[in-house]
Amino acid sequence: MAPRIVVAGSANMDLVGLAERLPLPGETVLGDDFVMMPGGKGANQAIAAARAGGRAVFLGAIGSDSFGVTLNARLNAAGVDTAHLRTSYGASGVAVIMVDRAAENSILVAPGANSTFRDLTAAEEQVIVGGDVLLCQLEIPVETVTAACRAARAAGVRTILNAAPVRELPADLLANVDLLVVNEVEAQTITGSTSPDMSALLALVPRVVLTLGGAGSRYAERDGRDEMVPAFVVEATDTTAAGDAFTAALAVAWGEGRDLIEAVRWANAAGAACVRKLGASNALPTRAEIDEVFAS
Ligand code: RIB
Repeated sequence: MAPRIVVAGSANMDLVGLAERLPLPGETVLGDDFVMMPGGKGANQAIAAARAGGRAVFLGAIGSDSFGVTLNARLNAAGVDTAHLRTSYGASGVAVIMVDRAAENSILVAPGANSTFRDLTAAEEQVIVGGDVLLCQLEIPVETVTAACRAARAAGVRTILNAAPVRELPADLLANVDLLVVNEVEAQTITGSTSPDMSALLALVPRVVLTLGGAGSRYAERDGRDEMVPAFVVEATDTTAAGDAFTAALAVAWGEGRDLIEAVRWANAAGAACVRKLGASNALPTRAEIDEVFAS
């Protein structure tokens, strides 16, 4: 049976401006185009997990505005279980994204309803306890992420934390993380070092995946393996949500019982498949698309 992936996280409407290059502070740049589409690291990872073959459940909060209606519809259309999705009176989360012609982006998130997801109900805890893997990011209050990981761990459910956007991580959260997924900047911020320090990260959590963009990923475990897993080469259009595609595919593969190095390799293929298309939720690859890149 497909693994049950519970995602506790954010949902945002992404307002995406496309331009030859990103503006400098104080500068106005004439852009190429504008698109609006559902995103948010939590919702993206739930959708990506469903497309990658998992049974995905999303725990989060949308606003009572029209963006909330679209976000809910997007999750449902992807086959994500939204039975416990909260609607909070007010604005949904919004991300203002700029993408340049080299596929680089910069993102500003106004959390809106995501910031109201401050605790877990008994019903939400039951959902977490019934999962195979819990997947969290840091676009909702960190207390909720901590409570979710604590509940999962206590029930023997594996926990993955994608520490994005990075912030200070409470010891109580780190103590309940089985696998940390970070990029180089996040790794440096967490360890307070000037370069990614794997041993410092492994002092905090038992397993780490360090994503290195075009160079692939590095997987390491405490007192165990430490391997580079090369990237798949594809033509990039937009790197937005590549980390979400990667993390969700990793959760699905781990939930399926695959070896973690193999899971990271498959997740690299998911990230590569994602960057071929513009946008967040609509660029997230299906299992067939991941397998196609994986076989290339
Ligand atoms: O990871 C990509 C996501 O980050 C975007 O969809 C945006 O909403 C921000 O949360």
